[in-house]
Parts: sequence; structure tokens; C-alpha cells
Amino acid sequence: MVINIQDLYKGFGETKVLNGFNLQLMEGENLVLMGKSGSGKSVMIKCLVGLMEPDSGKVEVLGKDISIMKRQELDELRADIGFLFQGSALYDSMTVRENLEFPLRRHTHKFDLKNTDELVLEALNNVGLPHTINMMPAELSGGMQRRIALARALILKPKIILYDEPTTGLDPITAKEIILLMLDIQKKYKTSSLIITHDVDCARVIANRMILLLDGINYAEGSFEELSAANDSKIKAFFK
Ligand SMILES: Nc1ncnc2c1ncn2[C@@H]1O[C@H](COP(=O)(O)OP(=O)(O)OP(=O)(O)O)[C@@H](O)[C@H]1O
Ligand SMILES: [Mg+2]
Repeated sequence: MVINIQDLYKGFGETKVLNGFNLQLMEGENLVLMGKSGSGKSVMIKCLVGLMEPDSGKVEVLGKDISIMKRQELDELRADIGFLFQGSALYDSMTVRENLEFPLRRHTHKFDLKNTDELVLEALNNVGLPHTINMMPAELSGGMQRRIALARALILKPKIILYDEPTTGLDPITAKEIILLMLDIQKKYKTSSLIITHDVDCARVIANRMILLLDGINYAEGSFEELSAANDSKIKAFFK
């Protein structure tokens, strides 16, 4: 098990967001988390990487309890977690190369900066865009930007990748390409992935297992086939 979230509670004043949420990510698995807008998916991810403190509950990543980690330990742990943010979130004023170098410079304990060029090229080749190395994000299409963001998430060879809405805002064909790329990369590096998405087609293709987040809890879990065939009207609503 690479992520273990148990009985997680998080609220803001009167608003209760997570109310005893559980999630386990197994090694090598593609786990899809679905939940409607505002249900607490991003809050959950922030608790997971130590950007937000839960009210209560346990969060273990790669076997370690993150609530007792010191700042430096948390930083080191984050080098093992790739993160594709909601939107591409490339740095607009940096070239593609600089965007990709950014995580390497932040984690010099893990990487020798002498290998930077090699790692940048490998990452770009993985997403099929080596020729964009000196371009600015504004010169790239939305789909290309998403690929570069994916390359950046992968450049540290993370054990876990968190994808927050990887296909949102893309046309269906480009979305499909991104999904296939995610699958390729998962095969090549044997990463474990947690994929947050509203996109039913994305879930169908990529999920080994799914969790539905509803009312602050893991309302239902199972394969795409199991959940999409369920009779419960609350579950059905996810697959419309
Ligand atoms: N820092 C914060 N302070 C106060 N409320 C917050 C904070 N962060 C999130 N919330 C609230 O928590 C709830 C869940 O937000 P969250 O961003 O996790 O939703 P989400 O499931 O990621 O939605 P989306 O699909 O739109 O990204 C929302 O009601 C939001 O207003
Ligand atoms: Mg969100």
C-alpha cells in the first residue's frame, strides 16, 4: 500500500467537507476518484501532501505518517510524489526547459544537477515533444501544455502520481491521447496513480478501481463495470 487515508475529517467553520473519508492506493494501481465539484477532492489531496492539516484522521504515504513529519522529511517525500495540477499550471514566463528543470532544482538531494539536460530530454521524449524544449508555454496548444505538465510531474521519477482533472478543458481526442500517455507512463515506470476526474470516458479507460466521494465519505468503491452497473441512484448520477 502506498497511500493509506483513514477516517479523515476536514471542515472549514460550519462547512464539513470530509467526514470520515477512507482511501487506500495499492502499488502499481490506477485508482480513480470521482466526486462532484466542491465535494472535497482537492482538499483531500492537500491533506495528502501536507499542504493542509486535517481535523482528525490518519494519512500515511509510502508507509510514513505525514502528520509527524518535519518540514525536510515532507520535502523529501514530495520528491516521490508527482503532481499534475488542475489546469496545466506551467510557469508562463519560463521556457519548457526551465519549467522541467524547476522540480530538479528543488530536490537537489535526489538529483545531480549535472544530469539535468539528460533528464529534461528523457521527460520530453516520454510525452513526444522533444522539439518544444526552447518554446514558451504561450506558444503551445492546450494539449501540448498538458503534456509538458505531465513531463514535469514525471521528471523526478516519482513512485506516486496524483492527477487532478488531467483531461478537463481538452477536446475528446486530445483527452484520449493524454489518457493513453498516462497509461504508457504507468507501464514504463510502474508508478501508482491516483486520478481525480469527472470524465467518465477517462475513468472507463484508466481505472483499475474507483472510489466515489459523496457527502464527505467514500460512498462506493469498485471496478468501473461494477459501479456503472449499480442500481443506487446516487451512484448512477456519477455515470451520466
Ligand atoms: N482554504 C479553504 N478555506 C475555506 N474553505 C475551503 C478551503 N479550501 C476548500 N474549501 C471548501 O471546501 C470544499 C471542497 O473544495 P475542493 O476544492 O476540495 O472541491 P473539489 O472537489 O476539488 O471541487 P472541483 O471539482 O471543483 O475541483 C468547498 O466547499 C470549498 O469552498
Ligand atoms: Mg478540485
